[in-house]
Amino acid sequence: MAEITKNNEAGNIPRHIAIILDGNGRWAKKRGLPRNAGHLAGSETFRKIATYCKNIGVEYLTVYAFSTENWKRSEEEVGGIMKLLDKYLREAIRDMRKKGIRMKVFGDISRLSPELQKLIEETAEISKEIEGFQANICINYGGRAEIVRAAEQYANDVIMGKVEGDLTEEQFAKYMYSADIPDPDLLIRPGGEFRLSNFLLWQCAYSEFYYTDVLWPDFDEAELDKAIAVFNSRDRRFGGVKNK
Ligand code: FPP
Repeated sequence: MAEITKNNEAGNIPRHIAIILDGNGRWAKKRGLPRNAGHLAGSETFRKIATYCKNIGVEYLTVYAFSTENWKRSEEEVGGIMKLLDKYLREAIRDMRKKGIRMKVFGDISRLSPELQKLIEETAEISKEIEGFQANICINYGGRAEIVRAAEQYANDVIMGKVEGDLTEEQFAKYMYSADIPDPDLLIRPGGEFRLSNFLLWQCAYSEFYYTDVLWPDFDEAELDKAIAVFNSRDRRFGGVKNK
């Protein structure tokens, strides 16, 4: 179970924060801009929030950038998001050592362009040299698909004789993209919706949810502090009973 180690004015700092990036399209529409202008602004907000998370002592930040369902969007929009990811990954490869940021991609990357796949592999390689804060970007990710993939890999290991005995939750978790990291303590959804949208279904079993109407491109450090303060006001019992 995640343990909280650091604090700031907002209270104890969650070790792992997960965010569903939502509201980019509406942010752009309100300004009479194309949807991709919203995604550009959203990617800048991601940069800002990742830096802030690192500075206040969050250890892991996981964001939902592109779901398995997002391929249904127009070719222009999908192409725009892929271009932003390409740009972001290139910058990350250049800066991550200096900034001390590890980066992982969660999701089925085989459907992405060979160039993007190469950049993703490169960030994973560089991450091995770095210690500390880790940003996980979910691309072509779906929570159900992740669980099915884990079941397939487990079954394969059984067939190959690599594992034996009864399967425990702990062992199964090792087949998830999040294998080595604690579950999110706090899940934030900006953009005014109240859905999980197939995000981290396995990992969010005990996460605290925080929703806000603020659209993702407008989300800032003060909003994150607010979410952390609400998180600190919650009584986390993990199914147990609180000692009085
Ligand atoms: C949801 O808003 C956002 C997306 C589907 C794309 C998010 C992608 C980025 C911010 C770009 C790249 C990301 C990183 C991390 C570099 P929406 O379009 O569903 O908004 P709406 O509900 O207002 O239409």
